[in-house]
Amino acid sequence: MANPSSIRLLVAEDVPQVSQHVRNLLSVQEQVKLLEVLNDGSKVVEAAKQLRPDVVMVDLLLQGKVKGPQLIEKLRDSGLDIPVVVLTVPQHPLARDPARGIDAVLTLPFSGFELVNTLSHVLADRQAGSSGACRVISVFSPKGGVGKTTIAFNLAVALGQMGVATALIDGSLQYGDLRSLLKVPSDVPSILDLPTDRVQESDLRDVMWRDPAGIDILLAPPRVEMAEMVTARDVEKTISLLRRLYEAIVIDTPTTLSEVTLALLDGSDIVLSIVTYDSTTIHNTIAVAEVFSSIGYAPEKMHYLLNRSDSSGGIGREELARSLGRRPDFEVVSDGRLVVQANNEGMPFVVTSPDAAVSKDIQRAAQTIMGRTAGAPVRH
Ligand SMILES: Nc1ncnc2c1ncn2[C@@H]1O[C@H](COP(=O)(O)OP(=O)(O)OP(=O)(O)O)[C@@H](O)[C@H]1O
Ligand SMILES: [Mg+2]
Repeated sequence: MANPSSIRLLVAEDVPQVSQHVRNLLSVQEQVKLLEVLNDGSKVVEAAKQLRPDVVMVDLLLQGKVKGPQLIEKLRDSGLDIPVVVLTVPQHPLARDPARGIDAVLTLPFSGFELVNTLSHVLADRQAGSSGACRVISVFSPKGGVGKTTIAFNLAVALGQMGVATALIDGSLQYGDLRSLLKVPSDVPSILDLPTDRVQESDLRDVMWRDPAGIDILLAPPRVEMAEMVTARDVEKTISLLRRLYEAIVIDTPTTLSEVTLALLDGSDIVLSIVTYDSTTIHNTIAVAEVFSSIGYAPEKMHYLLNRSDSSGGIGREELARSLGRRPDFEVVSDGRLVVQANNEGMPFVVTSPDAAVSKDIQRAAQTIMGRTAGAPVRH
């Protein structure tokens, strides 16, 4: 049940009298904290990303570039998973419809009691509906061949082995690295087989590939030229729906920072950036960290995983930490024989050799990401 004293509310409202009414109702109580009232619908999703409210309230009749109904849709597809209460007037009746992103409806005029009650109920429903918050982890690097696919796959399987309901998304849409790693036949459906308008839970079940290792995988299209058919909006919607069904989502991403890659990263709670002791990788990682910071990614969203941590190539630990501005959060050792063989067989090494050092490193990262251990295991 939601703690009613902690409801953080963001409001999208452009009628001054209505904003004032809401402010007045909230000023005499302490259960709801009004974060901001925005009168421009185009700024709301960005503000929600920054402020992370518990609930967003949207006036159905909001005017401007992004009108009420569009804003409701944008919030639903944003991957933010924040419940939305829609405010309307008796002349424009509206029914609650969570599949369309309308978690509750408040019709003007309403009392302070109705307002607070509605907000606490949508929040409690949302918390009861999901068995805890879902963690979305994108495995990224601005340099190719550093181990993204290998780590994304084994991390997802390690999470599955911990009993966490896990989905893995093959975001390397052009080459479909996971499709080739797992030797999945080309007629197995992909993200392209999801309907473009309203994706339902049952549609997803038909498209996910059940890996014998216990996780569900959403594959990339089977052919290179099909990648461009997947839009940033498809990606946002997919993440938003998967969030409701899984406890963890791991995304294998491509090296290029396209609009679709950014949508994958935007929809993630954690960007796990893979670094190696390689000067180009380090240089590109720093460059891209500046981009992430300028587009507003919080420092807590960024995590670094040092892969092949025992192959320093002449670069010292301190030097790496100085360049990155922090120590890597995780380290994974090199194991050429085991990793290459497991990949060639399409098997997760965390299953075939759970006691190998490389597997232990991945298991530890999985546990830390789910908050099941105290701290990050980094060798100094
Ligand atoms: N810790 C490790 N120890 C040994 N070999 C590794 C390790 N991590 C990755 N590799 C090997 O490095 C190679 C590249 O790995 P992988 O394909 O996972 O990288 P990637 O970042 O996904 O590449 P791409 O940019 O092409 O998508 C593979 O041959 C893999 O077996
Ligand atoms: Mg790859």
